Amino acid sequence: MALPSKRREMSDMKFFLLWACGLKKPFSSTTKKERLTLYRHVAGKKNVVEIGVYHGVNTKKFCQLMDPYGVLYAVDPFFKGRAGFSTMKVIAHYEVGKCENRNIKWMECLGHEAARIHASESSVPIDFIFIDGDHSYAGIKSDWEAWRPLLSSGCIIALHDSEVSPNTSANADTGSVIYTKEVISNDVGLKKLEVVDSLSVFERI
Ligand SMILES: C[S@@+](CC[C@H](N)C(=O)[O-])C[C@H]1O[C@@H](n2cnc3c(N)ncnc32)[C@H](O)[C@@H]1O
Repeated sequence: MALPSKRREMSDMKFFLLWACGLKKPFSSTTKKERLTLYRHVAGKKNVVEIGVYHGVNTKKFCQLMDPYGVLYAVDPFFKGRAGFSTMKVIAHYEVGKCENRNIKWMECLGHEAARIHASESSVPIDFIFIDGDHSYAGIKSDWEAWRPLLSSGCIIALHDSEVSPNTSANADTGSVIYTKEVISNDVGLKKLEVVDSLSVFERI
């Protein structure tokens, strides 16, 4: 995963300052239809993982909809910018912090590292995972291979930018689109439930 360019950092900082002044709302690249699909599937789930939190738009909603006694694993490396901190992290923690009395485990690391940490600390199987971190082929491959063994039977797997869609940035060359087609869609232990814009939803059978 390449570190953000200087230009990207400038625009993140500009967004952050506008957000801090109340002039911008947290952003998610998921479409409204994708969000509604995610919310339908996460409702009542107990052990929920989100790989790639960004501003925490969906993290906050997962936290509100999942089983109140469950655990939400929010995974993001929150790479620091030249200003010495991650603007995304500040926004995400503030937003998700509005969801009170919930058990949120922040994991500030790469998706595949989080799986290894989880496996060493807990034997609790995951019943919902949203993979939306590193969309390169190698990135999603390492996340998938690390989390796949930790998913319960019946686990819902939601993959963003996994299908070509005119409504998102996913195209035929996107690593996560290629990996989903070549590997995840051919996993005989999974059943494909639906595709909404660039979001594919599978169930572990
Ligand atoms: C597309 S955004 C996530 C959007 C968020 N899921 C949403 O629904 O609004 C991608 C995020 O993944 C994070 N990220 C990048 N590489 C990652 C990796 N290898 N593991 C986990 N997160 C990663 C980035 O820091 C960024 O916040």
